[in-house]
Amino acid sequence: MGKKIFSGVQPTGNLHLGNYIGAIKNFVSLQNEKDNNCVFCVVDLHAVTVKQDPKILKNSIRETTAAFLASGIDPDKSIIFNQSLVPAHSEASWILGCIARMGWLNRMTQFKEKAGKDKEKASVGLYIYPVLMAADILLYDASHVPVGEDQKQHLELSRDIAQKFNIDYEAHEFFKVPEPLIQKNFSRIMSLKDGMKKMSKSDPSDLSRINLTDTNDEIAIKIKKAKTDNEILPASEKNLKERPELENLLGIYSSLKNQSLKISISEFGGKNFSDLKKKLTDLAIEKISPISSEIKKIQSDNTYIDNILLKGAEKANKIAGKKVYEMKKIIGF
Ligand code: TYM
Repeated sequence: MGKKIFSGVQPTGNLHLGNYIGAIKNFVSLQNEKDNNCVFCVVDLHAVTVKQDPKILKNSIRETTAAFLASGIDPDKSIIFNQSLVPAHSEASWILGCIARMGWLNRMTQFKEKAGKDKEKASVGLYIYPVLMAADILLYDASHVPVGEDQKQHLELSRDIAQKFNIDYEAHEFFKVPEPLIQKNFSRIMSLKDGMKKMSKSDPSDLSRINLTDTNDEIAIKIKKAKTDNEILPASEKNLKERPELENLLGIYSSLKNQSLKISISEFGGKNFSDLKKKLTDLAIEKISPISSEIKKIQSDNTYIDNILLKGAEKANKIAGKKVYEMKKIIGF
């Protein structure tokens, strides 16, 4: 039997190589595996947990959709929609918010990072964000959820919420307990400027990330300026942990080339950083530039994008609407 896949991406700013390698690239492989049922969601309800400019948000929803399509997600094979078009997500999120415990949410490290020092000023939405994420996943009975490493804790919470609901309401196996799909080597792509920091949309320096919409020249400059050390490249995986910038560039190279880290190490062992950077630049341009030009092409037709989202939402509404209806029955509404 195939897998039931659900995953989401926030429409906030440019998608970058971390989103691509950690998530979207895998969405495409999972979609193309026989018998899988895939649902990919542009999570606009999650986006408004921090303030968004309405016009920019609308554009970002379309841009994220265009990036899905340009990367190879096919609306004839997968359901693609934006979350706010399917009311069941908000409804289920409220109900599951009454299942999740404060203590569980208090442990979420991403909230602590995002809220920063002044927690009192963070929105309530940002705090309960992982509950909405649980609703997303559980409404579709997802068996597997492909994400980057930073979402692991949220997925564990989704599992806890599913189990507690099933137990509290004696609804044996009503919610499927989802499995995270997190790649071993390439699930945490780091900033090009600091190998200890995650590549992120919110990093103030654009040089820290490669965006899916970057031009070839921008990609080349960013890789050229990426932080390095002065030693030659090692012939084995040993000591790589002490050279996080090198480990990161080798990881990006390996993932884009669909080869193991080990093979990349043997390719570059004994060579200089400049050799790796040169080959990585050519490879990144070869892989990203078709996506980036396709994103631009797709984005020139908003009606096309909006229609895909509407059609996807119709299908999603059928599945999620039925599940939330059953949820309501179980809890006595
Ligand atoms: P978001 O929008 O921050 O990121 C989208 C996906 O990209 C992955 N990712 C990375 N992977 C590797 N290295 C990085 N530097 C990197 N940065 C981001 C993320 O892990 C994610 O898989 N809460 C989610 C969206 C969401 C969701 C869901 C995901 C909402 N509902 C249900 C799965 C299932 C988020 O903010 O992802």
